Amino acid sequence: MARKFLIGGNWKCNGTRENVAALVEVLNEGGEFPDNAEVVVAPPSIFLQTVKDTIRPDIKVSTQNVGKNVRPGAYTGELCASMIKDFGVEWVITGHSERRVGFGCAGESSDLIAEKSKVALDCGLNVIMCIGESLAVREANQTLELVLEDHMAAFLKTLEEADWSRVVVAYEPVWAIGTGVTASPAQAQEVHSAIRAWVGEKVSPAVAESLRIIYGGSVKSSNAAELATCPDIDGFLVGGASLKPDFVDIIKAVE
Ligand code: G3H
Repeated sequence: MARKFLIGGNWKCNGTRENVAALVEVLNEGGEFPDNAEVVVAPPSIFLQTVKDTIRPDIKVSTQNVGKNVRPGAYTGELCASMIKDFGVEWVITGHSERRVGFGCAGESSDLIAEKSKVALDCGLNVIMCIGESLAVREANQTLELVLEDHMAAFLKTLEEADWSRVVVAYEPVWAIGTGVTASPAQAQEVHSAIRAWVGEKVSPAVAESLRIIYGGSVKSSNAAELATCPDIDGFLVGGASLKPDFVDIIKAVE
């Protein structure tokens, strides 16, 4: 079964009312997207309403995080999964490395990220689950150990009964995020293929075959087409370039 590419734009904490409107216009006027591409954008939550109301219908909207509680309650600063679902947003991102390290406070553990992913899936949302190693881990030759035996293993523990058709794994080496240093196609393919083999062994060959594993880390239109030719790269999670017209070219590069 051919896997459809997923191209996600993670806008992180960027945007003003004016340039969000301008970016939506660029995307809306971006012409036809390839049939084999599904596109999702994740604006800051303060812009979710406006983006959802104005973006073309073939681009879906995502949150950048989700709380671990299903129901609304006394959780200041959180968005809960049932609220996201009720709002008509179909996707959430979990486990981004910027959340794993925290912002001056404790970062999110693999277990917490797995718990959040499960809550989102149980509420009927689709989840882009991020994993990836730091430069120190790569230089110590421990990349696969970390992404498989820590990041993926935590998901697996929690998601045993999950509907994997609503899961996308985003491999994002931290050293490639926002640095301009993209993983080479060979480096990315090596990790993607190891993730697929691991899922085949731990979950099932059928889930491994259909699971979309996307790459993130300094993706631009100039490197997207080559990365997309790798057999186990099923799309991208794009940060910086998703704030520019280049994002349209990245989407079209997977054709
Ligand atoms: O979520 C997206 C990634 O952090 C990649 O960001 O494309 O700016 O390197 P970047």
